[in-house]
Parts: sequence; structure tokens; C-alpha cells
Amino acid sequence: MARPKVLLTRRWPEAVELRLAQSYEAVFNTADEPMDRRAMADALRGFDAVCPTVTDVLDASVLEDGKGAVRVLGNFGVGVNHIDLDACRRLGVAVTNTPDVLTDATAEIAVLLMLMAARRAGEGERHLRSGQWTGWRPTHMMGAQVTGKTLGLIGFGRIAQAVARKAHHGLGMCILYYSRRAAAPGIEAECGSVRCEQLDDLLSRSDFVSLHCPGGAETHHLIDAARLAAMKPSAFLINTARGPVVDEDALAAALAARRIAGAGLDVYEQEPRVVPALLGLDNVVLLPHLGSGTVETRVAMGMRVADNLDAFFAGRDPPDRIA
Ligand code: DGY
Repeated sequence: MARPKVLLTRRWPEAVELRLAQSYEAVFNTADEPMDRRAMADALRGFDAVCPTVTDVLDASVLEDGKGAVRVLGNFGVGVNHIDLDACRRLGVAVTNTPDVLTDATAEIAVLLMLMAARRAGEGERHLRSGQWTGWRPTHMMGAQVTGKTLGLIGFGRIAQAVARKAHHGLGMCILYYSRRAAAPGIEAECGSVRCEQLDDLLSRSDFVSLHCPGGAETHHLIDAARLAAMKPSAFLINTARGPVVDEDALAAALAARRIAGAGLDVYEQEPRVVPALLGLDNVVLLPHLGSGTVETRVAMGMRVADNLDAFFAGRDPPDRIA
């Protein structure tokens, strides 16, 4: 029997590509360039499985355009707001993602951004490398202490809970969270967290606000000028979720006017573009979407996709099927 044809839309860690090449007629995007809409539609017509990631757009029109061969999308990543899941259901295309394996790596980046922004780490490094550092002095680059402060989490899924554990147990932080559903009492106790019923309540009480909600229409510009104004002037905003959750122009204006103290961003509205107004500010730390970027995690993500494909093509239910 012919082996299923599988396309990876970007380069993946070698160990995963080798595994997939053993089981499938696998094609790798050796140029590692993002695929445009036409190339994606062609891929959907030509492969049994397409394995996209956050840089790919699989909206209804691309999916309609490409309907034909593809039976499963094995997304490399947990966030799937770049895929129209309803259209996939309508067209009978299964979709899987990679939860769990990137939880700690992404939580690390949220904690890193919180520390970097509060302790002015990016700014300090730029200062030193540009030869401006004249030596220690008592008033030089004073930042804000993180230990013991209040961290407000918007969304309280796996990654937010991992951030809460690290921040509560490692940095003695008090944790607030805002989420549609209350977490189990055991999880709240373990994370040292208390639920806020109102988002504005969390915003006005937190020294750090960290975003952990999914992307998509429901959370588009959830953090806008009004919500930024509800934060303390001494507070920091951290985003490791999805760029469009924050109105970047409003954020840049709030940072420039010091209406909030600072921000740490790993994701952007139009990746890889970063609005120029943010690039010119010293009170924002900007990382290039590194959330899941450890060797261990990226290999685990790829292996998770492979597990899902193996199950799908063996006629079993893929463990991480979301559509
Ligand atoms: C994810 O898994 O969603 C990461 O942001 C990479 O896409």
C-alpha cells in the first residue's frame, strides 16, 4: 500500500524529520520560507497530511481552494487561530495540535519577560554593549522588584498555571487570575491563586499582567487603550499568547506616555513585523516568538505531531484531535 504523503510547511528538528521520513512519503520545506496562499492550496490538493505552523494561513478560502487530497492537518504548535476549524470540520479535514509539551518552555519565557522588563535587562545590555556604562552608582538603572508582587493572569489554562507555579513558589508572588471558569480548588491552592470575577478588577490590582488566552476574534484587542488605562502606572504587561490580543498602537502610546511602566512581548499582531513605535521604546522588551523555543520542546512538539499522524493513518483517534 502506498505510504501517505505528508508535507511539513517549515523545517522541523532533524530527529522528527527522520522519524517522519521512515513512515511516510514526507516532503520538507528545505528553503524554510513561509508558504503563500497559492502554495498552501496546492499543498492541500497534493498531500494526505499537511503539517502547518503559526506562520501559515489556513482560512476558509485557502481550505476551500485546496479541497481534495488533504485529510489531516497536524499543526506544529498548540495555538491554532491561523486555522479555520469550522471550515475544516465542514470539509471533513481532521486537525491536531501539540498541547502539554510546550507548557514549561512558554511559561519560562513569560517569567523571563517579567524579570527582564522589571529589572531593565534588555535596556541594561544595550547600555553596556554600546559603551555607555561608566560604572556602578547607587541610582543607576533602578528597576522594579518582582519578588512578592502581584501577578494577574488573563486566561488560566496549562501555561498560565505553570507561570503561576513558578511565580508563586519561585518569586513569592500573589497570583490573581481571570478566566471564564474557576479552576479546581486544588489547582488554585497549588498555584497560590485567587480568581477575579471582573477583568478590570484584576487589571487594577496587578503589578504584572500576563496574557494566556487564545487568539481569535473573541480576544482581538482585548487589551486596548481603556484596559491599559485600568492598569497601575507602575505595572507591566507581558504577552506570550498571541499578538492581536493587544492593540499594539495603544500599547506603544501607553508606554511612551508612561501610563504603564513597561511591557515584555514575545508575540506581535503582524509577525514578523513589529510596529516602529514599539521598536523605539526602552521600556519594552521584545523577543522574536521564542515561547516554545527550546531543543527539548521543539523535538517534543514534532514527535507529538508524528504520534497524531501515526494514530490517524492507523485508523485510530489522534490523541490531540481538536477538529
Ligand atoms: C504555539 O504552539 O502556539 C506557539 O506559539 C508556536 O506556534
